[in-house]
Amino acid sequence: MARKIVITSGKGGVGKTTVCCNFAVQLARLGFRVAVCDLDFGLNNVDVVLGTENLALYDLLDAVEGRCRPKQALVRHPRYPTLYCLASNRVSERYISPQAVRLVLDALSSQFDFVLIDSPAGIDEGFHRAASCADEALLVTTPHISAMRDADRVSGILKSYRFQASGLIVNLVRKDLARKGEILSPDEISTTLRMPLVAVIPEEDKFFLDNISERSRAFRTLAELYGNEGKRKFGWFGRKEKSK
Ligand SMILES: Nc1ncnc2c1ncn2[C@@H]1O[C@H](COP(=O)(O)OP(=O)(O)OP(=O)(O)O)[C@@H](O)[C@H]1O
Ligand SMILES: [Mg+2]
Repeated sequence: MARKIVITSGKGGVGKTTVCCNFAVQLARLGFRVAVCDLDFGLNNVDVVLGTENLALYDLLDAVEGRCRPKQALVRHPRYPTLYCLASNRVSERYISPQAVRLVLDALSSQFDFVLIDSPAGIDEGFHRAASCADEALLVTTPHISAMRDADRVSGILKSYRFQASGLIVNLVRKDLARKGEILSPDEISTTLRMPLVAVIPEEDKFFLDNISERSRAFRTLAELYGNEGKRKFGWFGRKEKSK
């Protein structure tokens, strides 16, 4: 069964989708089977970041509303054969219940090692829908006060979900500023938010292939951490395919 991990933040634009897609790419490069599920129904862009937007016949909402089987809504990444995108292109006016989305993800769970769930910003219905589909959470923040304040709020709410594990990712870190003490260090942020730090992502000058930076050491390290942790904690292993 897949580890289902929601990537959330509170504040918008701090890098949830970037983290979700780059983490997924690195897990896939390690040979794990990964599905990225876009539960940001309003500003869905996982398929754009992954570069699969023109390949989808169906999407998550088709699967939820029974127009296709869950498997048919997946798009295999042309470059990484164990990476799949479950996009949500057709924004529906109708209410989509957490249970309906969970049924689709549960149907796919046995085929994957990881299901990464991209959540919308905020703490409204969309956030709760995404959180309730996951067993674990990753909270993304930046070192900026407004992002940290929202993350603090979200971390409190995440506790009520009693996730098996939660981790903090500090994104857009400028090491020069952290060294000079001009911004809080990732460790200080982790202490303030009372969440274990699992990754520090530097601010990159530019991303390759849209927002996928295949060479990112930080995302590679994060994928290795989760890959090894999975083996240790759950005794499972990804279907090892030759790394690219
Ligand atoms: N480490 C980074 N270095 C440089 N740019 C980054 C980094 N992380 C994210 N970005 C850029 O910041 C912008 C916002 O990122 P992203 O879309 O991932 O945020 P988000 O939290 O998913 O936003 P939303 O709340 O709207 O869904 C994008 O243009 C992305 O390329
Ligand atoms: Mg996003």
